[in-house]
Amino acid sequence: VAALLIAAGRPRPRRRPGGVRASAAELRALRARHEDALALVRSRSGQTLLVLLDPQDLRRFYAEPVSVLAADPPQKCRGLSTHEPGRDGDGPGCARGEQRPERRRMSADVLAAGLPVHPAAGPILTVVAEEARHLTATGTLELARVRRAVNRAARRIVLGDPAAEDDELAGWLTQLRAEDGRPRGGRTRAARSVQDKARARVREYVRHAGDDTLAGRAARHAGPVDTTDPDGAVDPADEARLWLLAMDAVPDTLLRTLLLLGAHPCEQDAAAAEASAEVAAGGARGELPRLRACVRESLRLYPVVPDLIRVTRGETEWRGVRHPAGTAVLLPAAFHQRDPERVPAAHVFVPGRWKNPAADRDIRMAPFSHGGGRCPGDQLGLMITAAFCAEVLRGHRITGTRPVLDPVGPLPVTLDPRGVRLTLTRR
Ligand code: HEM
Repeated sequence: VAALLIAAGRPRPRRRPGGVRASAAELRALRARHEDALALVRSRSGQTLLVLLDPQDLRRFYAEPVSVLAADPPQKCRGLSTHEPGRDGDGPGCARGEQRPERRRMSADVLAAGLPVHPAAGPILTVVAEEARHLTATGTLELARVRRAVNRAARRIVLGDPAAEDDELAGWLTQLRAEDGRPRGGRTRAARSVQDKARARVREYVRHAGDDTLAGRAARHAGPVDTTDPDGAVDPADEARLWLLAMDAVPDTLLRTLLLLGAHPCEQDAAAAEASAEVAAGGARGELPRLRACVRESLRLYPVVPDLIRVTRGETEWRGVRHPAGTAVLLPAAFHQRDPERVPAAHVFVPGRWKNPAADRDIRMAPFSHGGGRCPGDQLGLMITAAFCAEVLRGHRITGTRPVLDPVGPLPVTLDPRGVRLTLTRR
């Protein structure tokens, strides 16, 4: 039998619920002992998970359609905080499950999945440039400031300029993100009421959204919507709310990327030169390949979705062993992206590894996942994050960082963005 049962029960403050609590060293030891076998891990709650440790199995994980490996509804996109508390069925959370392929289609079209520069790049980059001014206003940069600027930009990009000042909506979205961990009882009712208020407010913005906003594009894509028919056409307001929540991946990634650049002065100089050259050229904007490579490398080291989780829809066979429908399958992406046995210089910041276009399809690295479940906002997310970095670096140098990182030594395994503080000096 190529599977093994272990009790991964020791409480360790790592990973979100449902993830494996084993450390990278434990997963590596498991793999060494069992020659790349799958690990069947029993979580503390008694749930068993198939943990994929071999590249062959990763390939299959990404290749299987949702009819075989589906996102578990309560887990879906939890890493992105898009799970909606207390809704029945396939409510307006993630576009997962074969019931709603049209939702994924809309996301792919409106977010321009696969296009490095979004068709609305002009207005989007103008918003980023305006909001980035808040980042450099005081000479120090920490998470609260980054969140405020990025969230304002996200509301403008998704819903339009009138949403920029909507602190009430911002508060509801923050509450929904906080309730992501599946509230119970009264908290479920409270979360529902916040959900309803946010939904109504977003719908109002969508009604007046301009053609340059993602919501306006979605409304054009969907045509008229019958909001009383739950099985009807995709509601652009639901998608707009999902995208606002999905943009939550940007602030942590932006701050970590700037921190890594602060710790690697040569990379910082090269990135700043690219940022300035883009403006000097006066042509098309938004590509910034060097900065995008830095963002990808920061996501490889510190992924915002460290574990990808699916549930089998029917009985499936893995390495000759049959597993019943409903088996949870976990791909520990953070572990694989930093696996020193398979990734050269696994614990070092090497943005150059993303130069080769094939790196985007390298299944060892999955900051945006792969296959049918891949993030449809990957290019848009990269464009926005790199553009924010460029705005900071054009006028400022990162001259101090907390924590202080060793530029050549192994980087820490985790990096809590709440503890990051950067000092900016005018160029
Ligand atoms: C740094 C930025 C981002 C990162 C690292 C990221 C990462 C991811 C990952 C790993 C997934 C797959 C989760 C899974 O398989 O369980 C995902 C899904 C998704 N992302 Fe992103 N994302 C980013 C930005 C964005 C942006 C800007 C948007 C939209 C505006 C977006 C929209 C979505 C949506 C709609 C899904 C769900 C797709 C589905 O239901 O199949 N993401 N993202």
